[in-house]
Parts: sequence; structure tokens; C-alpha cells
Amino acid sequence: MRLLVCGGAGFIGSNFVRVRARDHGDDVVVLDKLTYAGRRENLQDVEHEFVHGAIEDPAVVTAAMEGVDAVVNFAAETHVDRSIAEPDAFVTTHALGTYVLLETARARRVRYVQVSTDEVYGSIEEGSFTESSPLAPSSPYSATKAGADLLVGSYHHTYGLETLICRGSNNYGPYQYPEKLIPLMVLNALHGDRLPVYGDGMNVRNWLYVEDFARGIGHVLEHGVPGEVYNVGGPDETTNLDVVRSIIEYVGASEELIEFVTDRPGHDRRYSLGSEKVRALGWEAQVRFAEGLRRTVDWYRDNAWWWEPIRSGDYRAYYERQYGRALG
Ligand code: NAD
Ligand code: TYD
Repeated sequence: MRLLVCGGAGFIGSNFVRVRARDHGDDVVVLDKLTYAGRRENLQDVEHEFVHGAIEDPAVVTAAMEGVDAVVNFAAETHVDRSIAEPDAFVTTHALGTYVLLETARARRVRYVQVSTDEVYGSIEEGSFTESSPLAPSSPYSATKAGADLLVGSYHHTYGLETLICRGSNNYGPYQYPEKLIPLMVLNALHGDRLPVYGDGMNVRNWLYVEDFARGIGHVLEHGVPGEVYNVGGPDETTNLDVVRSIIEYVGASEELIEFVTDRPGHDRRYSLGSEKVRALGWEAQVRFAEGLRRTVDWYRDNAWWWEPIRSGDYRAYYERQYGRALG
């Protein structure tokens, strides 16, 4: 299959490209704007064609979609804290970018997979969201992702485009930019830097190892029913504080590094996805959290070449703005 993977130079996209090229022999074209989160290094060991450009640019998208069998869209701004500080790019990429991709896919009658998130459902105290739960997003990140999902659905309903939506829970694993909880805590713990836990640390996330999500998206691409939404949730849920304690224990750092800091505004308490529908298609998560976390910590410990340029670059200024203290 020839695939156009938008946002394929980011965390999940690059893992998806690796899984598809390695395990399925797909021919992959990556279209990526290379924002701070997108890096050519993420794909240096995978055969692919690369187009540098934005999904909101119709000329670039039209050329990149030439001759492909399907489009998988990962391209997004993905960090909730950045969406609170500066929402502009979230609106452009999620609303306008998704629209341009859909219009181009419609003109070419190409199957379209939108990669989305559990955050579009909002927070849930108990139980789990199903695909028919109402959308109730809380942040500019999740609200613009929800808007994109609705637009995708409308292209199936109105124009008969073969669309699919995959809503994943919190991913973790190799190549994740260290603004997100797990890689941030791993690198800080390895360096003896403070571990900034928001609020009381009791927010709960449903953790999904990135290769499991990549396989789930591939599964939906191949076996999903057009027009449908599929939740792809992780096998374990954990409080943030327990995640941080597990990292400390595995790295051999001190609990004294934990620092409770001011909570994120509008912070969602708990996410939880029911994934029966994608399981009925034959997908199952294979990596439990304890094992996935060990693999992740080992990867960051062994791949300083990947994170050293990030940790010594613009990320330092971001970190200082976000946390009010410099990295060590
Ligand atoms: P990421 O931030 O690591 O990567 C995003 C990629 O998109 C980068 O390569 C970036 O350069 C590219 N990009 C951004 N704007 C673009 C634009 N306008 N045009 C072209 N490329 C652009 O993100 P990620 O964590 O890999 O997330 C990928 C997708 O999965 C997103 O749609 C996100 O909403 C979704 N998702 C993420 C998680 C998670 O835990 N990270 C969970 C569920 C769903
Ligand atoms: P994050 O990785 O930003 O993912 P999301 O907000 O999309 O779920 O955060 C995961 C959880 O960790 C979330 O409850 C916020 C919390 N968190 C901290 O406590 N400290 C931090 O420094 C970060 C980045 C996140």
C-alpha cells in the first residue's frame, strides 16, 4: 500500500511509519511541517519519501497525495500547556489543515484516517467513554481536535468519503518530545532535575505504548468500517504521581526530586476509553505499562544523541517559561 502520512516526523507518526514500513512493506510518503516537535532524525532508520510542508497548504497537499491509496493524518499541535499559552497554531493546523486534507482526499477519492485523542470526550470520574459518548473538550487543544473530528465525520456523511477516526489514549515510548509527562520526568530524573507534578498528582491517564497505538491505527486503516470512530485505549490507568514514582524507582533517583507545582488551568481529572469496538476488529494492546515504561526509560538512557540537541536548544527557554525555573 502507498500511504501519505501527515505529521509522520513526530512521535506517534514516526513510530507508525516504522511499523508500516518494517512489518507491512508499505511505501510511505511523509508530509511534515517540521515544527519544534517534528524531526527528520525520528525517521533516519526508516525508508520513506519526505515532503517538507504544511497540511494547510493546498498545493503541497495536492502534490503529496498523488498516487496514494490512503492518507493517515497525525499532523497536529499536541501539547495542552502550549494550547493554553498560545492557541493560534492549534486552530490553523486542526481546523484549516484537516479541511485541506479532506478536500484533497475527496477530489481523489482516497481513504482517510484521522488520528484523534480521548481528550475530545473531556474528563470522566468513573467508567469509560465509548465512541457514542458526547464530545465535551476542555482545552484549546482538545476543542480544536474535536472540531476536526466533526469535520471528518461530515465528509463521510455528506460526500461519502471513506473516513475513519482513531481516538487514542495517552501514548508513551521512544521519540516523544520531552514536554510530555513521561519523557520530561525520565530526562529530569536522569539529570537529577526537579520533577514538577501539577496539582495533587492524582489526575489519572490511560497509558498506551506507542507501538500498540501504531498497530491499532494500521488495523483500523485496513479493517475499519468507513464513517466509524474507533477508541484505542491503553491497558492500564495510573495517577501521575504513581507514574513519577515508578520512573524514580527504575532510574534509581530520589523521591525528594518531586516538586508539587501550580496546577494546569482547566486540568482534566481522568481520561478513560472503552476499546471494545477496535478489539472486535482483532486489535489488542500487547504492552502493559510496567514493561512499556522500562522500555521507554531504557530507550532515553541509551539514546542521548536524540535528546541532547533538544535539551540544550529552544526547549530550555520553553521549560523556563513553563516552570519558572531553569533546567540544570
Ligand atoms: P507530535 O507533537 O510529536 O508530532 C506532531 C507532528 O505534526 C510533528 O512532526 C509536527 O512537525 C507535525 N505538524 C504539526 N503541524 C503541522 C502542519 N500544520 N502541517 C504538517 N505537519 C505538522 O505529536 P504526537 O504525540 O505524535 O501526536 C500525533 C497525533 O496523535 C496528533 O494528532 C495527536 O492529537 C494524536 N494523539 C496523541 C496522543 C499522545 O499521547 N501523544 C494520544 C492520542 C492521540
Ligand atoms: P501530558 O503529558 O501533557 O498529557 P495530557 O495533558 O495530554 O494528558 O500530561 C499528562 C498528565 O501529567 C497530565 O495530567 C498533566 C500532568 N503533568 C504534570 O503533572 N507535570 C508536567 O510537567 C507535565 C508536562 C504534565
